Amino acid sequence: MALYSKRQLVPTRQILDAALAGKYAVGAYNVNNMELLQAIVEAGNELRAPLILQVSAGARKYANQEYLIKLVEAALNSSDIPISLHLDHGEDFEICKACVDGGFSSVMIDGSKHSFEDNIALTKKVVEYAHERGVSVEAELGKLAGVEDNISVSEKDAIYTNPDEAAEFIERSGCDSLAVAIGTSHGAFKFKGEPKLDFERLAEIKAAVGKDFPLVLHGASSVPAELVKICNDNGAVIPGTMGVPEYMFTEATKLGVAKINVDTDLRLAFTGAIRKHFAENPGHFDPRQYLTPARAAVKEIVKHKIQVFGTNGHA
Ligand code: G3H
Ligand code: 13P
Ligand code: ZN
Repeated sequence: MALYSKRQLVPTRQILDAALAGKYAVGAYNVNNMELLQAIVEAGNELRAPLILQVSAGARKYANQEYLIKLVEAALNSSDIPISLHLDHGEDFEICKACVDGGFSSVMIDGSKHSFEDNIALTKKVVEYAHERGVSVEAELGKLAGVEDNISVSEKDAIYTNPDEAAEFIERSGCDSLAVAIGTSHGAFKFKGEPKLDFERLAEIKAAVGKDFPLVLHGASSVPAELVKICNDNGAVIPGTMGVPEYMFTEATKLGVAKINVDTDLRLAFTGAIRKHFAENPGHFDPRQYLTPARAAVKEIVKHKIQVFGTNGHA
């Protein structure tokens, strides 16, 4: 379904193919409300960066898919960069269908909790429906669960993405991109000891799936200490945080990662700015007063991500 905007969304696979060819990655930023969307799109506009906007099941429940689509239509009309709209972590066929029917340019079917065969069957069903309507499909193989520092080789093999299985999975399911498990996890507490990603495995996955196939890194927030400090200095209690160090994205991008998912860092920036605003202005109660700096803080972090991922100048 086309959106009611002057400009249309770009198919996500097109954005990812361009990223692979240009040796950069595109951030996929989670959208839950108008301020987050405006911040992300303003950052992309200013730095001439293509964007993937993503909406989770939780975002659909919080904001209502129809509202989010209307906001994205407005964003398209106020920008001239390539933008795609993606369903993040769709858990069944029905939610993927609703997003395809709603006009999204890609959906993720997250069958990672199922067996290999059931994940293939579910992904294939979504691919058939989505491809007929020009929509791309991201799938996931392996588990993103947070893992301890001293994980054994056999534990790794059970949790992380297996390169040979990845190639077979893509071949049999027909998916357009694949989220891989190489040691990242969602949220602000990603590592117990030293941050470590399994780049050897990522290189093997890339070799098995081919250099033109886009891989996706979930749980890729860096959880910057400065953002956590702003929260904690202003009343939050968020101890023991750790994210993916920024230098790792260069290596990941060289090894076939074209889409990098970021949500937690936007949440920290937004919340920190609101907390700071209230600490400094205890008398304020007009939402515009505290949402203005919150939106500005998210725009700053997205601009930073765009530069770290090398997306700037590619729109
Ligand atoms: O992968 C998880 C994303 O951060 C979305 O989170 O399900 O709370 O919206 P959510
Ligand atoms: P973070 O929690 O690291 O931001 O990951 C977000 C994500 O993977 C969304 O799918
Ligand atoms: Zn994710």
